[in-house]
Amino acid sequence: MTSLYLLFSTSTVILAFLLLHYFLSKPKSKQLPNPLPPGPAGYPIIGNLLQMGPKPHRTFYALSLKYGPLLHLRAGAVHFVVVSSPALASLLLKTYDANFSDRPYTSGAKYMSFGRRTISMSPYGPRWRLLRKITTMHVLSAKPIDASRRTREEAIKSLITRLAARQGSAVEIGPCIDECITEIMAHSIVGKRFFSGPNAWRVGELKEVSMELITAMGEFVVGDFIPSLKWFDLGGTVAKMKRTFTRLDRFLDGIMQEHRTDLTVGLEDKDEDLLSVLFRLKECDGELIDDDIKGVLADMFIAGTDTAASTVEWALSEMIRSPDMLQQAQQELDLVVGRDRLVSESDIPNMPFLQALVKETFRLHPATPLLLPRTAAEGVEFGGYHIPKNATLVVNAWAIGRDEKSWADPLEFKPARFLPGGESELADMKGNNFEFIPFGGGRRICVGMNLGVRMVLIMTAMLVHAYDWALPTGQSPDKLSMEEAFGLSLHRDVPLNVCPKPRLHPRVYE
Ligand code: HEM
Repeated sequence: MTSLYLLFSTSTVILAFLLLHYFLSKPKSKQLPNPLPPGPAGYPIIGNLLQMGPKPHRTFYALSLKYGPLLHLRAGAVHFVVVSSPALASLLLKTYDANFSDRPYTSGAKYMSFGRRTISMSPYGPRWRLLRKITTMHVLSAKPIDASRRTREEAIKSLITRLAARQGSAVEIGPCIDECITEIMAHSIVGKRFFSGPNAWRVGELKEVSMELITAMGEFVVGDFIPSLKWFDLGGTVAKMKRTFTRLDRFLDGIMQEHRTDLTVGLEDKDEDLLSVLFRLKECDGELIDDDIKGVLADMFIAGTDTAASTVEWALSEMIRSPDMLQQAQQELDLVVGRDRLVSESDIPNMPFLQALVKETFRLHPATPLLLPRTAAEGVEFGGYHIPKNATLVVNAWAIGRDEKSWADPLEFKPARFLPGGESELADMKGNNFEFIPFGGGRRICVGMNLGVRMVLIMTAMLVHAYDWALPTGQSPDKLSMEEAFGLSLHRDVPLNVCPKPRLHPRVYE
């Protein structure tokens, strides 16, 4: 009995041991990575490049309706992934943000960012963090933004006075708004005296250089996507980028040189501007070099002007197209401000309709519809698919703002949705609600968001309060073209020509 028992228990132990050995030593079936996200088939070598079209945000939107919110294309040799739903945007910008916080190293970054020293093109790391910290602290956080309030109000007042002289005739308003915002940025970044009085011409030059740079940045460089063609500058795009960059470099050199001379002879402005702060940090800490300073200045001028200006132009266009909206905004302005003075930024918190109108403009017309591209530091499994290392990713904020699951009547311009009691009353655009991300999200969220919103609000308010806006005779508001032109920021394709008619006390325009 005992031996039988012994035999049984011994064989049980041996069997258990063999089973354990079998399972532990069994070669694991090789885990295959998830497939790439779905997307249209491309051509050999060029992939889907030709299918992206002149308005890629619209192409990607149409493709996402067919293939789903996670889309894979090939831009030549580059894996190109497009995210088009709030849930996936949250996954990218929040859950996997660290892995996707770098920017692709394209020719634009190589030839026009002072060696990747602008904040927007800088690799994710300590220098990027330092530059963001400096600009936030000295220009872009609540305190310096409050301190520069008068600069904004004065520049817009000067535009309003100039427009009064044009009443009765049609004005192309886009360039006027653009120049005014450039002036505001120039004043708060390098000081007033470089851009006013006898130096006022510089605003025009800065605008010209910025526009050249923005156009060059948006150029398509074949070699970025088809490495075998890297050595041929097809179409001369790289040569153009280098020329544009040299012009910007000389312009900034000139300003820095003059600013340095002024500092040595004690001629600087009373209020310390960003350039003085950067010089001081360079001297004290030795952490910055001149190219870092130029990179920061270029970013502020370029990322900060075109985006805000195009948003104001879209807001005006929407109001001209729906005159009842214009009337509602003006009624609110008259109630809070009256007609004897211009609006001030301190009035804005009392204007819920104006705020809702600006939010609705950001929803339907995000200035950077695909945000700025990110790149995958490592290959990851994402939303059930595989995103390869070094893939380029974009978030289609334009499509997300039109997502039927997130917005009622998504294609309609309805500011009331953001008013108290409206279905999107609580939606904020600060990167917390992923159905509404005109400024992006995560670590790389727009560093100038607060200033951008302030500029758009006060400029829209002052223009709408001071003038009635009518289209030239013979044009009807409901036929106003709302076609977009895709670039670094999303502009109107057809210029907005309008006839401003003063509506405040004549004294206000003096
Ligand atoms: C209406 C105004 C503006 C809009 C709609 C806008 C939008 C954006 C967007 C979508 C991004 C990319 C975010 C991402 O990758 O997730 C961005 C980045 C950036 N923006 Fe803005 N922006 C505006 C105004 C400004 C202003 C006023 C400034 C500066 C004064 C500015 C400076 C920047 C910079 C430096 C970056 C790069 C951030 C980084 O890579 O870390 N922007 N902006």
